[in-house]
Amino acid sequence: MLKNDQLDQWDRENFFHPSTHLAQHARGESPNRVIKTASGVFIEDRDGNKLLDAFAGLYCVNAGYGRQEIAEAIADQARELAYYHSYVGHGTEASITLAKMILDRAPANMSKVYFGLGGSDANETNVKLIWYYNNILGRPEKKKIISRWRGYHGSGLVTGSLTGLELFHKKFDLPVEQVIHTEAPYYFRRADLDQNEEQFVAHCAAELEALIAREGAETIAAFIGEPVLGTGGIVPPPAGYWEAIQAVLRKHDILLVADEVVTGFGRLGSMFGSDHYGIEADIITIAKGLTSAYAPLSGSIVSDKVWKVLEQGTDENGPIGHGWTYSAHPIGAAAGVANLKLIDELNLVSNAGEVGAYLNATMAEALAGHAHVGDVRGEGMLCAVEFVKDKDSRTFFDAADKIGPQISAKLLEQDKVIARAMPQGDILGFAPPFCLTRAEADQVVAATVRAVGAVLG
Ligand SMILES: Cc1ncc(COP(=O)(O)O)c(C=O)c1O
Repeated sequence: MLKNDQLDQWDRENFFHPSTHLAQHARGESPNRVIKTASGVFIEDRDGNKLLDAFAGLYCVNAGYGRQEIAEAIADQARELAYYHSYVGHGTEASITLAKMILDRAPANMSKVYFGLGGSDANETNVKLIWYYNNILGRPEKKKIISRWRGYHGSGLVTGSLTGLELFHKKFDLPVEQVIHTEAPYYFRRADLDQNEEQFVAHCAAELEALIAREGAETIAAFIGEPVLGTGGIVPPPAGYWEAIQAVLRKHDILLVADEVVTGFGRLGSMFGSDHYGIEADIITIAKGLTSAYAPLSGSIVSDKVWKVLEQGTDENGPIGHGWTYSAHPIGAAAGVANLKLIDELNLVSNAGEVGAYLNATMAEALAGHAHVGDVRGEGMLCAVEFVKDKDSRTFFDAADKIGPQISAKLLEQDKVIARAMPQGDILGFAPPFCLTRAEADQVVAATVRAVGAVLG
């Protein structure tokens, strides 16, 4: 910290940062990095340090930083109409246009999009819609939601419960009782090391069946999952996983919510993760990549099947009692329209697929042989390296050693590359903007090799 640094002092004294060690930060023991500007895949702090952001913020700045087309669209919208609400049938050109653009890109069974602000509130909306749906269908006991351990779905009351990470439950009195968890499709961390992928998939499906049998299918409304586990460790599912899970859900009349907050709009090299893995969802959650985070906006895309019941519900009960002041905010919607156009014009979805595959292959080639690298995995523009104490016995490091955070800190310090130490395990995560070039991917890999070497030898 610089002496007499007023901004630093104001930060420590006034700013309650999310997902931060509050006491250490207030005491000045953790860094306070003030970001000033950004372009492409690089961000720059107020001290002039230029950092390669290989996590695209929080895997959200998909189009890359500094896109003037999106900035102009936001400015134009603010000048023409900064706000009007979307209650009782109101809308704006931007919000209506964006809804059409989303449905044009979404799987064919999707019908309407409800707009919120972030991924958490979109998933809260989804849970409310699912409860409403089953009440309208006359099955008020069918309300529980199944999520996976290590799933991430937000940090509200219900969404923090859906999130299957300990940190998000501990001392918050979560999960709430309507939320139950099942096995994560995390092959590398399978309990039985003798299982092959096919056997592990059968095991995940059997665990789900057993949970449904214990709870009673008549009490279970929905299953929520990310096509690729994100914050829980960046874990693509083993082959056949989604097919096996969907077969179980269909048998028990359980709705499927695909949480595409990370995967929606191209991160896997396909427009949606649902297309990528053959997921036929009843509701799809979108946020982050919808606007590339140029303005807050999320959405719940509702299928024909759910929509018909919602219509029936309002015929019977009057207007839907759900909405936010900022639902379909025109500035967010204008950002979304400009962002989706740009993603098409620049072919960024195919770039995410191609350069993402290159990043994954190069990372695996460079690090898979390292004595403490247990797994290198990814899909599209998502990549993770998982560290182990002993490879043969797959023994993990003690969490207190903080190997993942140490490596990400080294990466930043030595080569000014940002990767994320994922919160549960020693896992280094990469989720760059889709405009990453092969040369930049090489830079990320070389820096990672150096950081791993510096911490683990
Ligand atoms: C899959 C997924 N769902 C939901 C969320 C929550 O979104 P937000 O942080 O915008 O509330 C996130 C955030 O990282 C996410 O990764």
